[in-house]
Amino acid sequence: MQFLTEIIENKQVAPGYYFMKLSAPEVACRALPGQFLHVRVNTGTYPLLRRPLSLHEIDSKHGSVSLLYQVRGAGTELLSQKTAGEKIDVMGPLGKGFNLDFSGEEAVLVGGGIGIAPLYPLAGGLISSGKSVTVLIGSRSVESVLAVDKFSAIGCRVRVSTNDGTEGLKGYVTELFEDYLMKTDVDYVYACGPGPMLAEIEKSCAKRQIPGQVSLEEYMGCGVGACLSCACEKEGTDEKKYLKVCTDGPVFTMGEVKLNREP
Ligand code: FES
Repeated sequence: MQFLTEIIENKQVAPGYYFMKLSAPEVACRALPGQFLHVRVNTGTYPLLRRPLSLHEIDSKHGSVSLLYQVRGAGTELLSQKTAGEKIDVMGPLGKGFNLDFSGEEAVLVGGGIGIAPLYPLAGGLISSGKSVTVLIGSRSVESVLAVDKFSAIGCRVRVSTNDGTEGLKGYVTELFEDYLMKTDVDYVYACGPGPMLAEIEKSCAKRQIPGQVSLEEYMGCGVGACLSCACEKEGTDEKKYLKVCTDGPVFTMGEVKLNREP
C-alpha cells in the first residue's frame, strides 16, 4: 500500500538521530511492531531508492505513526530536512513483525544503536499482555543513548551500555546482555541491531537454550519481494536456500537465517 502522508513533526533527538511523526491512519490501524515503512525521501529521481525505516510508534487512536532514524547518507540527510506540513510518499506497513507470544514472563529486548527503534512498540505490546520487560540499550556514547525515558514510562526496566563508558556499562551491548544473563532468568529474547551484534546475541541464547527473535537491518530495493536485493541465507538446510528480509522478515526466529558476522 502506498500513501502520501503528512509530516506532523520531524526533530533531532540526539546528534545524527531524528524522530518523525506522520499522519497515517491507514498504516496505524493495521501496523504491527517490527514492521517498517519504505519511505521515498525526495520527489525527484535522486535518490532513486526508498529507505526502509522501522515503525517506532503506532498510535491507532490518533491515526499516526512515528519513525526514529539515523542519518547515514544522502537519503536520510534529505529526510532530516523535511518539516511539519510537508507530504512524503510511504509504502507500508511492510514485512513480518514480531511474534509477541512466548511461554514465560521475562522478556529481554536488546537494541544496538538505531536498532532500538522497533523495540519500543514491541515493549508496549508485551507490557500490555502482562509480560515483564527489560530493555538493554547499547550506544556509542551518552549523547546517542535513545528512548530511555520512553521505555521507563511504559513500565520497562532499562539498562545501558556505551562504548566509551560515558553512561552505564563500558563496552558493547552484547557484554551487557551476557552480564544480565548471568544474574537473571530470562524466558525470551528479542534483538535488533547490526549483524555481528545479533550473531553474538544468538550465540549467548543458544548456549542457554533461550528462544528469541532477531530483527535484521538490511539495505532494500523494492521492499516487496520482487528484486532480491535483501536476500539472506537460510540456516540449517543442505542446499543453499534464501529468504527475503523485506517479506519473510525483517523479524526472524533465532537460528532461522545466517547472520552477517562481519563488522
Ligand atoms: Fe526487493 Fe527485498 S527489497 S526483494
